[in-house]
Amino acid sequence: MPRFPVLGILGGGQLGRMTALAAIRMGVHVRTLAPQHEGPVAGLGETFVGDWTDPRVLAEFARGCDVVTVESEWAPAERCASVLEGSTRLFPTPESLMLVRDKGLQKRTLAGAGLPVPPFACCRTPDEAIDAARSFGFPVVLKRYRGSYDGYGNATARTDADVHAAWTDLADVDGLLVEAWVPFEQELSVLVARRPGGGAVTYPVAYTEQRDHRCHAVVVPAAVAASVADAASKLALQAAEAFGIVGMLGVELFLEPGGRVTVNELAPRPHNTGHYSIEGSHTSQFENHVRAVLDWPLGDPSLRDRCAVMVNVLGHRSGDTRVDAMAEALAIPGVAVHVYGKETVRPRRKMGHVTVTGSDPAEARSRAERAAELLIL
Ligand SMILES: Nc1ncnc2c1ncn2[C@@H]1O[C@H](COP(=O)(O)OP(=O)(O)OP(=O)(O)O)[C@@H](O)[C@H]1O
Ligand SMILES: [Mg+2]
Repeated sequence: MPRFPVLGILGGGQLGRMTALAAIRMGVHVRTLAPQHEGPVAGLGETFVGDWTDPRVLAEFARGCDVVTVESEWAPAERCASVLEGSTRLFPTPESLMLVRDKGLQKRTLAGAGLPVPPFACCRTPDEAIDAARSFGFPVVLKRYRGSYDGYGNATARTDADVHAAWTDLADVDGLLVEAWVPFEQELSVLVARRPGGGAVTYPVAYTEQRDHRCHAVVVPAAVAASVADAASKLALQAAEAFGIVGMLGVELFLEPGGRVTVNELAPRPHNTGHYSIEGSHTSQFENHVRAVLDWPLGDPSLRDRCAVMVNVLGHRSGDTRVDAMAEALAIPGVAVHVYGKETVRPRRKMGHVTVTGSDPAEARSRAERAAELLIL
């Protein structure tokens, strides 16, 4: 009689935690490998802590797993692939991760697949960057190719001097990506879950609001014309196909004046703009990630209610986490509070989120904002 599968997750942050919770609910055996400490996955399934660049650590972790997945595109998937035994599969594949990880290669792959992206150039010297900026017109956004998140690794340049300063701060040996600055009306995201055979489902288009280069709030469905929502969904599905994604893909989009939708960037994993789906959707992004990598039938991504709003809870101080305001936050009706179980807090660190579903987006948003403000963990 077939047994329930063992799912390995490289990573132990909040995405690993919420993926593990979804998997455990379905009877899947979960094993995690975190490089430093258990953190948010403590107490969930079988936890390994060790140097995840060490082939022996990876081999011990992966032995007996049916599928290994990653919680972040930065997890050492290709090292893990090289030690996998027998029929253990790795999703997303190292090939998909390689195309996404480098922002220059990612943009070239998107453009090569015919997907609309803002004008961009991969520049090896400050002079090339200045030439690109002059041809696009200032301002431009300079981006590190690798390792950036939450806006770290990006700089906006309005002058040649800004380009030189950004170059000094950010450039790698292979230079920087230079992009035209997009005067977007809104930022949107679309999440896609895709199985190994190519079957896929698309979540409703989400409106995502950034503050200080971080996702602050997400409102679903986005208040956009049906033609914009259609275009956004089609682009996301095409991106998932072009990159051969298995699992979840978060597609960050710009809605430009005039209704044009362009792709900002991809995240080959559950995405912050999909956290609302735990309460908001018939099947959450975490459950669909698990189903997709196990090649199980995908669940219904549609909303359970008219709308869902998610607000991130960021750290406001440094020290140990506290639960002082939990009671006040929970007293707000209909608020689902998620706390990630990080032992220490730092200013602006993602500590949790709150979700409210309902029929009126403005009312749901005001309750979610109030709860998130109270939760200064
Ligand atoms: N070309 C651009 N024009 C205008 N704004 C931009 C551009 N590129 C990025 N931004 C703004 O900066 C934010 C962060 O950029 P990007 O998504 O490239 O960085 P990141 O550090 O990988 O982000 P994250 O981890 O938060 O998704 C975007 O959400 C958007 O608000
Ligand atoms: Mg981004």
